[in-house]
Amino acid sequence: MGKGSCVTLLLFIGLVSSVYSYDLYKDPSQDVEARVQDLLSRMTLAEKVGQMTQIERGVSNNSVVKDLFIGSVLSGGGSVPDAGNTAEAWQDLVDRLQNDALSTRLGIPMIYGIDAVHGHNNVFGATIFPHNVGLGCTRDPDLVKRIGVATALEVRATGIPYVFAPCIATCRDPRWGRCYESYSESTEVVTSLTDIILGLQGEPANKTAGFPFVADSSKVAACAKHFVGDGGTTNGINENNTVIDYKGLVDIHMAPYFDSIAKGVSTVMISYTSWNGMKMHANKFLVTQVLKYNLKFKGFVISDWEGIDRITSPAGANYTFSIESSINAGLDMIMVPNNYPQFINGLTDLVKGGYINMHRIDDAVTRILRVKFAMGLFEKPLADRSYSKHLGSEEHRSLAREAVRKSLVLLKNGKEAGKPLLPLSKTAAKIIVAGSHANDLGRQCGGWTITWQGGNGTTTKGTTILDAIKGAVSPTTQIVYEPYPQPGFAQSQGADFAIVVVGEPPYAETFGDNLNLTIPEAGIPTIQNVCGEVRCLVILVSGRPLVVEPYLPVMDAFVAAWLPGSEGAGVSDVIFGDYDFVGTLARTWFKSVDQLPMNVGDEKYDPLFPFGYGLKMGTPNSSGGSINFMRRWRLLDISCWAVPLIIHMLKL
Ligand code: GLC
Repeated sequence: MGKGSCVTLLLFIGLVSSVYSYDLYKDPSQDVEARVQDLLSRMTLAEKVGQMTQIERGVSNNSVVKDLFIGSVLSGGGSVPDAGNTAEAWQDLVDRLQNDALSTRLGIPMIYGIDAVHGHNNVFGATIFPHNVGLGCTRDPDLVKRIGVATALEVRATGIPYVFAPCIATCRDPRWGRCYESYSESTEVVTSLTDIILGLQGEPANKTAGFPFVADSSKVAACAKHFVGDGGTTNGINENNTVIDYKGLVDIHMAPYFDSIAKGVSTVMISYTSWNGMKMHANKFLVTQVLKYNLKFKGFVISDWEGIDRITSPAGANYTFSIESSINAGLDMIMVPNNYPQFINGLTDLVKGGYINMHRIDDAVTRILRVKFAMGLFEKPLADRSYSKHLGSEEHRSLAREAVRKSLVLLKNGKEAGKPLLPLSKTAAKIIVAGSHANDLGRQCGGWTITWQGGNGTTTKGTTILDAIKGAVSPTTQIVYEPYPQPGFAQSQGADFAIVVVGEPPYAETFGDNLNLTIPEAGIPTIQNVCGEVRCLVILVSGRPLVVEPYLPVMDAFVAAWLPGSEGAGVSDVIFGDYDFVGTLARTWFKSVDQLPMNVGDEKYDPLFPFGYGLKMGTPNSSGGSINFMRRWRLLDISCWAVPLIIHMLKL
C-alpha cells in the first residue's frame, strides 16, 4: 500500500473513531468485569482517589463532587436535606449530587449511602420497623427478608441506592450501647437473619458476574457491619477491645459474614473495635487475607465514620499514618466524612511517594466500580420518583405490625398457675394505661430514628401503644391514661386491670453503654405504684434485657417489647388476644449485671429467663381471633435453654 493510501486510511480511522467513540464501559451488554477494567484503564490518580472518598452531605455543597471526582456521599444519622425531610427533597438532593458526578470527564455515578437500619429511619413518615433485638426473637428469616424488600423500596423512594445495613453483630454483652442493633447473642440466629440482604439487594442471579445480584432499581446495595467482633468487646464498651482467640472470633463473630458474602452482600463496613489490641481499621490480616482472599469477598470494604482517624489515640493524631495503614490493610472506601481535603491530599501523596502502591489503589477502585456496575447505577443513576408512593405505605406498616407481633416475648402470665392475666379483655369496663413509654412514639422507636440518637415524643408518623390500645377495646371501655401515677392513684380508679409501659429512653452507640442496666427514670416507681394496687401487665420497651427480677413478683404479667418502632398496634394485637405470642428470647435475660457477660452455652449459666424462653397464652381466644391458644413449650427452644439449665442444676 502506497504512503498516500496509508495516510488516507489513518485519517479515515481517526475520523470514524472520533465520530463514533466507543467506550466499552458505557455498554451495559458488556460483562461487568470488562466494563470495570476498561474504565479503570482510563482513570487518572485523582479520579481513582476520588472514587475512594466518601463525604458527608453537609460538606457536599458547591461543586466538590464534580471537582474532586467524589465517589460517594452519605447522610449520617439525622443529616437531612436543607430543603426538608421529604421524599422530594431527598430526591432533589441526591440527583443534584449525581448530576455533578455525571458531569465529570468519565461520568462515573456517585453512590449515596445512609443508615436504614430499621426501615428508612432518617426520613419523616417512613415505616419504622422493630430494631434487630426484637427481630431476633421472631426467628423468622422470611419476615426479615420481606422487611428488606420494603426497606429497599422506601430508601429508593428518596433516590438513595445504598444502605449501611444489616448490622450483623453478635452482641455478647447487653451493656453494649449498640446491642439492640444485634439480632442475638447466638451466632446461628444472627446468621439465619442475614436473609435481609436478599430482601435489600435481591436474590443472587449467578456467581460469575463477580457480583451475584441482578441490577434492579427497586433494590439497594447492602452493607454487612461491623467487621469483625464489634459485639464482643470487654464489658460491652463501645468501640473497645475484643479479646478472644481466632477460633472464637470466627465461630462467634465472623460466621455471619460467610452467609452474607454467599448472599451477595455488596459492601462490608469495618468495626471501630480492636481485636486483641489491633485496630480493625488497620488489620491487614483480617481485612485482606481473611475477608478478601479466604472468604472471596468481591465487593468493597468501607471504613466507619472517621474510623481511620481512630486508629491513633487521640483520634487523628497522625492522619497520614491512618491513611497509609488503613488503605494498605485493604480498606477500599473511606467514610472521611468531613475533612476530605486532608484525606485526598494525604492519599495522593502516599501513592506518589510509593508508600501505597497503585495495585492497592486499583484493587480498591475495581471493587467500587464493580458494585456500581453490578447494581445498574451507570444505567439508572437518578432517582425514580415513581417510588415515592412506597414511603410509609400501608402495606409496609402492616408488615411492621406483623413484625412487632412476632417480636414480643411473654415472660410471665399470672401470679398463680391456671390464672393467666393475658389475653386481656377488650370489653373491660375500665383500664388504666400508665408509664413513660405508653404514649411516646419516639421512645418506642428508639435510637437511629429521625436523628442519630432518636428522641422522645411524636418524632415521626406512627401509632403509640396507648393509641393502639384505644383502637383495640370496645367503645364502652373507659381508658384512664396516667404516665406517672402516684401511690393510691391506681387503687382509686377501680379499674379491671392496668397496662404499664416503661423502659429506656432512646440512645445510640456509646451513649447507650450502661453498666447497671436498671430500668431508668420513673419506670420502677411506676411499676410499684400501679402493680401494687391493681392487676397489671408490664410491657418493657428497651434495647436489651434490664434488671427486673426484684419487681417480677408484683407483676401479674410481663412482656418484653424491645424497640417496636412506629406500629404500636402490633402490641395490642397480641395482648388482647387477636394473635398469640410467638417470640422467644434471642438474648439471655440475666438476674444481675454481676453475671455479665453470660450467654447460652456458657458453663456457668444461671439466668432469670434463658435464651429461647417465651410463653404462649393459655386460654382460648375470647375475641374471635384467628388462632387458638395452646400453652406449649417449643422443643427447639426448650433444648436451647433446658439442657444447660438441667446440667447446671445437676452440678449444684
Ligand atoms: C456510625 C456507625 C455506623 C454507621 C456510620 C454512618 O458511627 O458506627 O454503624 O453506619 O457511622 O452513620
